[in-house]
Amino acid sequence: MNSAATVWWQAGTIYQIYPRSFQDSNGDGVGDLAGIIGRLPYLRQLGIDAIWLSPIFPSPMADFGYDISDYLGIDPLFGSPADFDALVVAAHDLGLKLILDLVPNHTSDQHPWFIESRASRHNPKRDWYIWRDPKPDGSAPTNWMSEFGGSAWQYHEPTQQYYYHAFLDRQPDLNWRNPAVRAAIYDVMRFWMRRGVDGFRVDVIWHLIKDDEFRDNPANPGYGVGRPPHESVLPLYSTDRPEALDVVAEMRRVVDEFDDRVLIGEVYLPVERLVAYYGRDLSGAHLPFNFALLSAPWNAAQIGEMIAHYEAALPLGAWPNWVLGNHDRPRIASRVGEAQARVAAMLLLTLRGTPTLYYGDELGMKQLAIPPDRVRDPFEKNVPGLGVGRDGCRTPMQWGATERAGFSTGEPWLPLAEDYLTQNASTLAADPHSILSLYVQLIDLRRRSPELIFGNYRPVATSGSLLAYQRAYDGQTLLIVLNLGADPASLHVEAGEILLGTQLDRRHENVSGALELRGDEGVIVRLRIEPAS
Ligand code: GLC
Repeated sequence: MNSAATVWWQAGTIYQIYPRSFQDSNGDGVGDLAGIIGRLPYLRQLGIDAIWLSPIFPSPMADFGYDISDYLGIDPLFGSPADFDALVVAAHDLGLKLILDLVPNHTSDQHPWFIESRASRHNPKRDWYIWRDPKPDGSAPTNWMSEFGGSAWQYHEPTQQYYYHAFLDRQPDLNWRNPAVRAAIYDVMRFWMRRGVDGFRVDVIWHLIKDDEFRDNPANPGYGVGRPPHESVLPLYSTDRPEALDVVAEMRRVVDEFDDRVLIGEVYLPVERLVAYYGRDLSGAHLPFNFALLSAPWNAAQIGEMIAHYEAALPLGAWPNWVLGNHDRPRIASRVGEAQARVAAMLLLTLRGTPTLYYGDELGMKQLAIPPDRVRDPFEKNVPGLGVGRDGCRTPMQWGATERAGFSTGEPWLPLAEDYLTQNASTLAADPHSILSLYVQLIDLRRRSPELIFGNYRPVATSGSLLAYQRAYDGQTLLIVLNLGADPASLHVEAGEILLGTQLDRRHENVSGALELRGDEGVIVRLRIEPAS
């Protein structure tokens, strides 16, 4: 392998933990840090390299931790600062990196900065947030919409101005044009890196800077019935402003003050804009999250095109990445179905670039329909009935067939999926053909195969339901063939040996001529001959 092998965030696999739902250790029905520590051996066995934790900081939990009231503390719900230090040590002892969620775009309305800011128009922290006068008719300064429904402007009667919130009114946006705000958040980053954290996943990084002229957003001509209200305008002036890239470059410089850390950005933008977040000369995020798989129509031609499009758009030297699930989007096993979830796993772990998986996807956990009286997500509460709710992908991790799936001794904060009796880590670990066993073997194969880490990506022409590509490195070539359909299909292959199949029953099979795939099957083949260059 070349020297790039030493860069952990390129060679490794990232695993997202949603701490509320991973493992509860004290019976309050909410996961915590001590719970995570107890499950590190599971993660080690799974073979992942880095854990990203959704926010664990003090928060009124209006948006379940994405509304932070103290950037430097740990919410008692999750444990103590000492628990956090213990987690860092325990993870590092097992060779696991720890990535924290940084939420710099907004704070909680209970953050002392905002409490000062709203105290008066002359408060020194007034300009830490985005305050504007009403229009002459008293209405909001612009037509910008909150992502969680309604206007993004909240009127504050005592000081007679509006403040801007891209999400809940309880999540006021910081003013990133103010250098004092930047300095304060950069100090937060340094604080956690000194504490041993290996990097950050930066929340809504493309939102950080808003238009300096506060122009109205244009109407969205494609807006239609059944879509959430914020999509009625195009966020042209409220997001993805050119100056945001300066901020990202500054954040990167802060991260680079420390050795071997990673900067990941959450960016929901079309590929052409997404890749701008690598920054000029790669001075921005190491990995602007690539969410294309989260919404890709599940058919071979479109996924093939989507991969090619992304590969072609990457700046020279930029390291790609792929995400299959997260705490905001429907679970993959529900989106593509149980059988295709295995194919999706093989796709994620054989594409070029760092894979990020979401807790429970390795168990085939599904999106749970949440009864109305158990809904917790503020997005669903504000915009009910459109299917935007995120609780269904945040249900408790299914550890065992024991009471409450081994997640908690108390009533879990969100309902457990009933399939936990069979779809759980301990049952699936004992089954050599389970989806969990497939994940373990895929991650292991990736770890051992420079082709899968460093190899180039070469699409192979196919038709119908097959998606095929080669990953070649140092004279060795792996061929990945995925059947995205339910019917058998075949592809001509010169000669090779199957290293792994999604059904876990074809290892070491020699293939030459027609490679036959069952419906919903994928295989990784080591080719015996040198590919024509
Ligand atoms: C990000 C988070 C999401 C949160 C929002 C506001 O998109 O992933 O969960 O609600 O930002 O912080």
